[in-house]
Order: sequence, then C-alpha cells, then structure tokens
Amino acid sequence: MSKPKVFIARKIMDRGLQMILQACEADVWQDEMPPSHQELLDRVPGKEGLLFLLTDIIDAEVMDACGPNLKVISNHAVGTDNIDIQAATERGIAVGNTPGILTDATADFTFALLLSTARRVTEADRFVRSGNWRTWAPALMLGADLSGATLGIIGFGRIGQAVAQRAVGFNMKILFHDPHLVHERSDLQARPVELEFLLRNSDFISIHTPLTPETHHLINQTAFEKMKSNAILINTARGAIIDPEALYQALHKCRIRAAALDVTEPEPIPPDSPLLELENLILSPHIASASQSTRERMSVMASENLISGVKGERIPYCVNPEIYR
Ligand code: DGY
Repeated sequence: MSKPKVFIARKIMDRGLQMILQACEADVWQDEMPPSHQELLDRVPGKEGLLFLLTDIIDAEVMDACGPNLKVISNHAVGTDNIDIQAATERGIAVGNTPGILTDATADFTFALLLSTARRVTEADRFVRSGNWRTWAPALMLGADLSGATLGIIGFGRIGQAVAQRAVGFNMKILFHDPHLVHERSDLQARPVELEFLLRNSDFISIHTPLTPETHHLINQTAFEKMKSNAILINTARGAIIDPEALYQALHKCRIRAAALDVTEPEPIPPDSPLLELENLILSPHIASASQSTRERMSVMASENLISGVKGERIPYCVNPEIYR
C-alpha cells in the first residue's frame, strides 16, 4: 500500500522526523531558510499532510494548492498565528499544535530574561569584556530587586501560570490580566486585575498572551505612558504584541527602565533597527522553548499530529476540534 504524501517545511529534530519518514512519503524542505509563498505553492500539490514552523505563513491559497486530499496541517509550535485557522476549519482540515510541552522551558527562559534585565547581566558582560572594569565600586551597575516587587502577567494560560509559580519562589507579588480568567489564584498568590491597573502598578510586566487582532500592538504608546518609570518589560510570546516604535521611544527616553525581547516584529529584527542601539534592551532570537528535550518532544508531538491526520484519525493536539463534530 502506498504511503500518504506529506510536505515537511524544514528538517525537524530527528526523533520526530524519523517517525514521519517511516509512516509517510515525505518531501522535506532542505534549506535553513523558509520556503517562499511561491515555493510552497509549487511543492504542496497532491499532499495529504503538511508540517510547518512558525515562520511559514499558511493561508487559504496554500491549502487550496494541495488539492482535495489535504487532511491535516501540523504546526511545530504552540502558537498558530501563522495559520489561517478559519480557512482550515471551513475546508475540514485539522490543525495541530504542540501545547503544554514547552511551558516549563518558556517560563524558565522568561525568568532568565527577567533576572538578566533586572541585574543588567548582558550589560555587565559587555562592560567587563570591553576593558572598562577598573575597580569594585559601591554604585557600580545597580539593578532592581525581585523580592517584594510586583510582577504583572498579561495572559494567564499555561505559560503565564508557570511564570507565576517561579515568581512565588522569588517572593514577588503577582497580578495578572486575562479576559478568560477573573478569579483569584490563591495557590499562586495571583490577583486578577484590569490591564490598566496591571500596567500602572507592576515593576515587571511579562507577556504570555497569543497574538490575535485584539492583542496586536496591545503594548503601544498609550500603554507605555501608564507604566511605572522603573518598569521592566519582558516578551516571550509574539513580537507584534508590542509596537516596536513605541518601545524604542519608551526605552530611549527612559520612560521605562528596561526590556527584554525573545520575540520581535519583524523576525529577525532588521540590522538597522534603532532598537539594537539601546543599552537597556536585551534581545534573543526566539529561543524561549529551545531546550534540547523540549524541541525533541515538540518534533514528536508535531509528527504525531501529522501522522494521525493523514491516517484519517482524530489528531491528538487539535486547535480546531469543531471539524470533528
Ligand atoms: C511556540 O511554540 O509558539 C513558540 O513561540 C516557539 O516554540
């Protein structure tokens, strides 16, 4: 019996890739860079399953280019803002993601950024390497304390709650804003508040909400004007939740103290972006989930979704379960 035909938009970690190669006839995109829209349209005709990364924009045109046999689109990410879910649902195509598995890795990295920003770790490293360190001094590179400070978490899903868990250990006070959660979480000592209250009262603000039309540029000039002047902003969710021009102004004019971004708009950040000149900004290349075991397990989950989908089975981690009703 012939194997189902699938397109894999990048070489994923071997554990997941081997599962796919055994179960499917796989056309694997070999380049490190993502396929262009046209290259996708050329490669997908006749495919029953597609596996993409968050860098690949999947619209109705790509789905229709596959033809009528497309059953599943598996995203190698928990976020699915790169896929037109409504178009997939209208066509009865299952969309899968990788929830849960990257929660701890992402929360750990959020805390790494939070501590690095508060205690100026990357700035200190540059200072020492550039030969500027002359002697110990009482007021050298003073930072911010976590203990007793207020952490405002925007988006209190799995990752937001895992960040709160870690913050409890650092003796932080926790506020959160999430339109879907309005009850106090006494186990996490976390209080639900309106966004405005969170912005006005937090010393640290960490973003963990999905990118949707409602959260696009949620953190804009108006939001920065409400923040405390000592506020530190962390984003490990999606770049476009922050307006980059407003962020630049807020950091450049020291309207807030500092920021750390694992995600930017656009990605990668352009080499001529004025953000790159700021001392009070830490940047990393969208690696919050990049621990060895997490990325391996993501590849397995994404492969499980793909393989179940092409077999005509219900996929295990489905973003649009309404297609099965
Ligand atoms: C995701 O999965 O959505 C992250 O941004 C990358 O792991």
